[in-house]
Amino acid sequence: MIMSTGTVALFGGAGFIGSHLTERLLEEGYHLVVVDIDSEKIEDLLSHNRIDFHELDIRQDDAGTVTSVVESADVVFDLIAYANPKQYVDMPLEVVHLNYDQNLRLVEDCVETDTRLIQFSTSEVYGKIGNRKGDDEVFSEDGSDLIMGPVENHRWIYATAKQLLERMVHAHGLENDLDWTIIRPFNFIGREMDYLIEEPDAGTPRVFASFISALLYDHPMYLVDGGENERAFTHISDAVEAMVYILEEAERYNREVVNIGTPGNETSIHDFAHLMRDIYADRSPDGDLPPIENVSGEEFYGAGYEDCERRIPDATKLTDAGWEPQYDLRETLEEAMSYYLEKYERAEAPSLD
Ligand code: UGA
Repeated sequence: MIMSTGTVALFGGAGFIGSHLTERLLEEGYHLVVVDIDSEKIEDLLSHNRIDFHELDIRQDDAGTVTSVVESADVVFDLIAYANPKQYVDMPLEVVHLNYDQNLRLVEDCVETDTRLIQFSTSEVYGKIGNRKGDDEVFSEDGSDLIMGPVENHRWIYATAKQLLERMVHAHGLENDLDWTIIRPFNFIGREMDYLIEEPDAGTPRVFASFISALLYDHPMYLVDGGENERAFTHISDAVEAMVYILEEAERYNREVVNIGTPGNETSIHDFAHLMRDIYADRSPDGDLPPIENVSGEEFYGAGYEDCERRIPDATKLTDAGWEPQYDLRETLEEAMSYYLEKYERAEAPSLD
């Protein structure tokens, strides 16, 4: 078992998931080496004496920093990715370049240096078909088929790249003895997620950030295709707790794919929008609520977008080890929303430029 005195390298340790994991692993006593393109989300942690930070775009690593960081670590978390559907539609080649080519180099460094790898993948690898409305099926790591849409719907290029990366990690385990765990996250929510948009055309963050922006800056909440698609959301603290289990129970999770998600927190995006409005109205009874508007996927994301109807994880690989999510859907939203509502009240909304 890895002891908390070990060195953990976090590639992408200052992103949304990475920043929460970095904070938690410092509390657990690990020595951390964090590599990220930007340190903004962990600025308050950088003075800690158990963290080394390298500001680096791994696509421009002329000095071989990636390899030397991997060499120095007992375990590597690889969280580097473009993970936002608008990016898959707008720049599919760059998504594959970063999410497959560059991540594969990191995998190969772990093979060369005999270093354990915890590779972040995505729940999108399950593809567009699987959990059908009205049945009890859940996505299981070792049982579900992975089914993508047609090539012309190029949203699936991301999931395809991630799936091939997973298969390469698995193959390196078979042929080169790589110790690995693959994590498939299911819609985590929390503070410092994505980015906020002051105007509706100022960007396309994932759904929670999109709706909290609408509430704060008083622009429409857009329901893509009527908001009929369903997701199961997980509070970031519950997700990070699961990551700590995976890190510390190295043998149990060696050469395993693990879903991290909260099956009980399933909702349609339509109901999710209304729950966020209810929570906002409870807190600010005199505030106006923004309109809700329906848009097609193509209008909202551009040509090539296609969605997954329903995505529910089988979480038993974690619950069998004692992990239990602490936040139901309302509590997840209340905690995450209160952070933003305290930081950016609508009336005094600051410029985020
Ligand atoms: C995205 C990523 O593609 C996954 O890699 C990642 O694992 C996942 O987020 C995640 O957060 O775990 P997706 O579930 O499509 O996948 O994420 P969102 O962009 O948050 O969309 C969720 C649903 O809300 C979709 O049906 C989308 O069309 C809808 N949506 C999004 C709206 O109705 N309105 C919005 O303003 C934004």
